Amino acid sequence: MDDSSHRGLNMSSTLEKQAKSSRKSKYIVIGSIVAVVVLAAVGTAVGVLVSKSNKSSSTGSSDTTAASSTSNSSSTSSSSSNDPSVFTKDNNLRKAFYGLAYTPEGSLPDTGCNSTLESVIKDVQLMSQLTSRIRLYGGDCNQSALVLEAVKQTKVDVEVFLGNFVVDGDTGAYERQRDVIKSAIETYGTEHIAGITVGNEFMLNYVVAHNSDNPNSAVGDEGAAILLANIADTRSMLAGMNLDKTIPVGNSDAGSYFNTKVLSAVDYGLSNVHAWFANTTAAAASSWVTNFFEETNVQPAALLSNKPKMYIAETGWPTASKDLGNANNGASDASIANLQIFLDTFVCEANTAGIPYFFFEFFDEVWKDIKYGGVEGHWGLFDEERNLKTGLTIPTCVSP
Ligand SMILES: *[C@@H]1O[C@H](CO)[C@@H](O)[C@H](O)[C@H]1NC(C)=O
Ligand SMILES: *[C@@H]1O[C@H](CO)[C@@H](O)[C@H](O)[C@H]1NC(C)=O
Ligand SMILES: *[C@@H]1O[C@H](CO)[C@@H](O)[C@H](O)[C@H]1NC(C)=O
Ligand SMILES: *[C@@H]1O[C@H](CO)[C@@H](O)[C@H](O)[C@H]1NC(C)=O
Repeated sequence: MDDSSHRGLNMSSTLEKQAKSSRKSKYIVIGSIVAVVVLAAVGTAVGVLVSKSNKSSSTGSSDTTAASSTSNSSSTSSSSSNDPSVFTKDNNLRKAFYGLAYTPEGSLPDTGCNSTLESVIKDVQLMSQLTSRIRLYGGDCNQSALVLEAVKQTKVDVEVFLGNFVVDGDTGAYERQRDVIKSAIETYGTEHIAGITVGNEFMLNYVVAHNSDNPNSAVGDEGAAILLANIADTRSMLAGMNLDKTIPVGNSDAGSYFNTKVLSAVDYGLSNVHAWFANTTAAAASSWVTNFFEETNVQPAALLSNKPKMYIAETGWPTASKDLGNANNGASDASIANLQIFLDTFVCEANTAGIPYFFFEFFDEVWKDIKYGGVEGHWGLFDEERNLKTGLTIPTCVSP
């Protein structure tokens, strides 16, 4: 008892930092430049965002790892035929992962929405050799349809958790994504859709913007009301479609920022759990993630009458940093060797324990390196050219 309350105290301070620092994913499908500015201001206020002055020096990145990791080992997915379902499998890849976190390149409205089906097909060919589940963060830039079209054309055994990235103060963003998600379901059917996640780190952003750190405070409940309305609206949209199966509706947030009323209204919760931001060593990361998820997410969710299924929405280890200051979290380096340690200690154990997780993430997303610096653009198993990072070995177990 004493021990657990003590651990709880330590955990809440590290977790607060973890959650506030783990802000990498929220810009992915932001609906407007205004929203970006507002959120960036919030992030800057809590001191977790890298100065925008880094942007101008992005091409002079001090990251040598990414530059040297252009191995050719995984460039075997291109097909000699025009049929995307015919592609060469890479012997280095295995379906070891329960799921992967994925955002198609070019899915950012404020940088032009220039994703292409060709690029998404190539990604799906690779990801289908690693997992049978992909999670998206939002619906902008046609990403729901692009991914489902790629799954259809490649004929791979992959299911997709679609996402609707809710932005405070921009109801148009929610509605726009809801409508393209609806249209994608009408076009592609329900077969490859595992769920629709409404909101990503919305509560974290909302309470921080309102000078709180408690998602279950009065101000937290105000933010939750926005999500609850959107969740109900998504359910009603689905109910009106006469679908052949019930599509689960969920919510995603930083691990310690779930609002209880929101969790009580969803079928599943996706929780970001990052040992890196809790300053653990790479060797201790796996048990930290597992313990945190069990105590902070799984056990509380099991007490709710709807018993939402909890997943780890993001977990991983960065392999490099743009700046020297973030190249070490105070305990271990951002490095490929340490990502390998995390892969070797987390993936197969989580599979055996039946922990559902989305590994973070598929490839290094350059826009994050430009926008945020630090380790944000360096969480990929693959580099930005979709080569498996040099020296990485995918674990040999097979995920359930
Ligand atoms: C990658 O592999 C292909 C096929 O083996 C080869 O033709 C190509 O030259 C290689 N590219 C690099 C950059 O090594
Ligand atoms: C998409 O736009 C971004 C930002 O303008 C640019 O850096 C990138 O090269 C473009 N990608 C494609 C595939 O055109
Ligand atoms: C969205 O992507 C699908 C699949 O590639 C395509 O058929 C559709 O035309 C696209 N819609 C828009 C608005 O780009
Ligand atoms: C975690 O490590 C970072 C980088 O060394 C450091 O700035 C920060 O103060 C550390 N935080 C804690 C809670 O130890």
